[in-house]
Amino acid sequence: MRKLVLPSKNITTPNFQERLWGRYRYEEIGALQALLHPEERKIMAWMADQVYSGEGEIVDAGAFLGGSAGCFAHGLGRNTRVIRKDGRIHSYDLFRKGSWLQSAIAPWNAKKSGQSTLDVYHDQLNTMAHMLSVYPGDITKRTWDGRKIEFLMLDCSKTQGLNDHCMRMFLPNLIPGKSFLFHQDYAIDSALYWLHSTMYLLREHLEHVATVKFGGTTMFRCIKPITPKIIEAVIAQQNKNPDQILAGAIKQAELLGDEKIIKAIRAAHSCRPK
Ligand SMILES: C[S@@+](CC[C@H](N)C(=O)[O-])C[C@H]1O[C@@H](n2cnc3c(N)ncnc32)[C@H](O)[C@@H]1O
Repeated sequence: MRKLVLPSKNITTPNFQERLWGRYRYEEIGALQALLHPEERKIMAWMADQVYSGEGEIVDAGAFLGGSAGCFAHGLGRNTRVIRKDGRIHSYDLFRKGSWLQSAIAPWNAKKSGQSTLDVYHDQLNTMAHMLSVYPGDITKRTWDGRKIEFLMLDCSKTQGLNDHCMRMFLPNLIPGKSFLFHQDYAIDSALYWLHSTMYLLREHLEHVATVKFGGTTMFRCIKPITPKIIEAVIAQQNKNPDQILAGAIKQAELLGDEKIIKAIRAAHSCRPK
């Protein structure tokens, strides 16, 4: 059977180069307690308002205190095309205070180590609760039920194992020509080199759409189905020939003319075990 390939030029979506999310109303999403820059909040809210069609679900993998879920919910609340909004945003998180973050965020600081943070998530998002489905606990113990996913926000791929799990769990459910992946840590200096390696290996399936000027969020569009077999091949390949993968990823970012991504790829790959 021939594979379905949808070249991006045939897809009718906004011209992302106009960066219209910059005009999204900020006060309410700006008040959310979150680890997100203003433009990251705006791009999520604007996408849920202006682009989301309702054909697939919205996955918020790495919810923290509910900031990213709140931005998607704010946009979805304003979206006049989508009728069925109940439970469409799926938030995954440990929802536990950990030592990984020393932050000025007051409700986080008020918690003791190991204490649940789920009450903060619910308190922040109480007016939007009907749009949310919440899955507390380790995401690696979770499976997805096979529903289509239209927006996938990945902010918990903090280890290679977590990233592998999220790829297996979610990517086969993306809709070619319609789904967007928001990689939260893609364009900041981090040690998460597996993000760039796997996205390079998936370059025929996920094309770069936009990167925020401040923060790390980089948005990709699914242009070709991603089968479990393809994901297993990517997982098996990601640590083989790492220098070749790095060179390919840099070359691809150079073609995009994106200095910020080039810098992020170099920084992350410098942390790779030698
Ligand atoms: C940078 S924070 C997310 C920020 C969030 N998107 C926001 O809007 O503020 C990363 C999150 O990943 C979560 N996380 C890390 N490992 C996880 C795991 N194994 N299962 C579920 N969540 C996990 C952490 O609990 C943390 O809240």
